[in-house]
Amino acid sequence: MVDHASLSGKRVLLVIAGGIAAYKSLDLIRRLRERGVRVRAVLTEAGARFVTPLSVQALTEDTVYRDLWSLTDESEMGHIRLSREADLIVVAPATANLLARMAAGMADDLAATVLLATDKPVLVAPAMNVRMWEHPATQDNMTRLERRGVRRVGPNDGVMACNEFGPGRMAEPMEIIDAIAAHFAEAAHKPQADKPQAHTPLSGKRALVTSGPTHEPIDPVRYIANRSSGKQGHAIAEALARLGAAVTLVSGPTRLPDPPGCAVVAIETAREMLAACEAALPVDIAVCAAAVADWRVAGTSDRKLKKDGGGPPSLSLTENPDILATLSQAGPRRPALVIGFAAETGDVVAYATAKRARKGCDWIVANDVSLGTTTFGGADNTVHVIRADGAEAWPTMGKDAVGARLAEAIAAHFQTPTP
Ligand code: CTP
Repeated sequence: MVDHASLSGKRVLLVIAGGIAAYKSLDLIRRLRERGVRVRAVLTEAGARFVTPLSVQALTEDTVYRDLWSLTDESEMGHIRLSREADLIVVAPATANLLARMAAGMADDLAATVLLATDKPVLVAPAMNVRMWEHPATQDNMTRLERRGVRRVGPNDGVMACNEFGPGRMAEPMEIIDAIAAHFAEAAHKPQADKPQAHTPLSGKRALVTSGPTHEPIDPVRYIANRSSGKQGHAIAEALARLGAAVTLVSGPTRLPDPPGCAVVAIETAREMLAACEAALPVDIAVCAAAVADWRVAGTSDRKLKKDGGGPPSLSLTENPDILATLSQAGPRRPALVIGFAAETGDVVAYATAKRARKGCDWIVANDVSLGTTTFGGADNTVHVIRADGAEAWPTMGKDAVGARLAEAIAAHFQTPTP
C-alpha cells in the first residue's frame, strides 16, 4: 500500500485521450481531488467522444482544455502555462495513437503539443486492444518513451470491451494513484543538486482565500460594486501556493489573471462567495481579503428598470451574509487560522481590534482606505497586523510583498503557534 500523504497540494495535468477506458478517468479525477490533488484536464477530440467535457469540468472544477487554436484558451492558458503549472502530467487513457504521436514528437493537437513542450515528468496509463498493445509498433513506441524517462502504469490483463483477453486494460484508478504517489515520494527523496531546494513549509495545508469585490445586481444590467481590484487577495493566494499550500481562491470579478498554482472559483455576489467558501471547507487557513458588499438589493428586478416618468425608483437594501464571521464560527469545520481584513478610514488599529473580536477571527490585517490613500486599486499597502497579543505595524510595501510576508507569518504560525 503506497502512502498517499505526499499527494496533497500537488498539481496534476491529466490528458484524457479517446478510449473506452476514459470513463475510469472521471473516477481518477474524483479520487485524486479527495486526496488534495489539484487536477486540470486536457481532453483530446477523441476523448470527448467517450466522456463529456461537462463531466470533466464538473469534477475538476476547472476549465477543460481542448483546443490548441482556441483564442480564449491560448490567451488565458497557453500550452506552456498548462505544463508549467503542473507537477506531473498523467496520460490516462494513453491510446496507441497518442503514444505513437508522443514517440514521434508530433504536436498536432493540444495534448500532443503540451506533451512535446513540457519538461515535467510524464506518467502514461496505456489502454487499448491487446493486439494493438502487442504490435511491434506500439511496443517500440513505448520503449522509446520509457527510455526518454516517461513512466508507465499498466496495462493490466483482462477481458476487454472488445471481448478479447490479454494485456490492454487501463490500470485501475487506485493503481494509477499509487503510481503517482510513488513518483512524488521518489521525487521528494531525490537529491536535487542542480536545483535550489523549494521552500514549502505549508505543503499539506489547505488554504481558502477570498478576493476582489462582489457585484450585487439591481436588475439584469445594473449592479452595486466597489473599488477593490483583488490585487491583495490574489497576491496572498499566490504566496500561499508558493509555500506549498493547496489554495482555493474565491474571487469576485477582477481584471487579474489567475494566480499560478491556485484553484480559482469565480463568483459575483456575496451569497455566491459564501456558498463557494463553504464548498471549499475543510481548510486549515482562511484569509478573507475580499471587499464583500455589506448589502444587496432586496427584490431585484428580472427586467431592466425603466424611466417611466414616476421619478427614480427607490432601492431597498438587505444585509448580506458575513463570510468572515461565518467561517470564524463554523464549529468543527472552522479553519485552524482565520484571517480577516479591515478597511478603515481612521483610528485604524482601534476599529480593527474591535472588528477582530466582533467577527471572531484570529488575525486582522488592517489598512487605511481614507481618501488620499491609494490602497484600493493601488500597488502598495500599509497594514497593521492585529493578533490576540497586539498590533504590529508593517512598513509600506507592494501588495505582492504584503502577500509574501503574510504567507511567511502563516507558515511560522503553523510551526510555532502564535496567539
Ligand atoms: N467581510 C465578509 N463578508 C461581508 C463583509 C465583510 O467576509 N459580508 C469580510 C471582509 O472580507 C474583511 C472583513 O470582513 O475580511 C472586514 O471587512 P470590512 O468591510 O472592513 O468590515 P465590515 O464588516 O464591512 O464592517 P464595517 O462596515 O463596520 O467597517
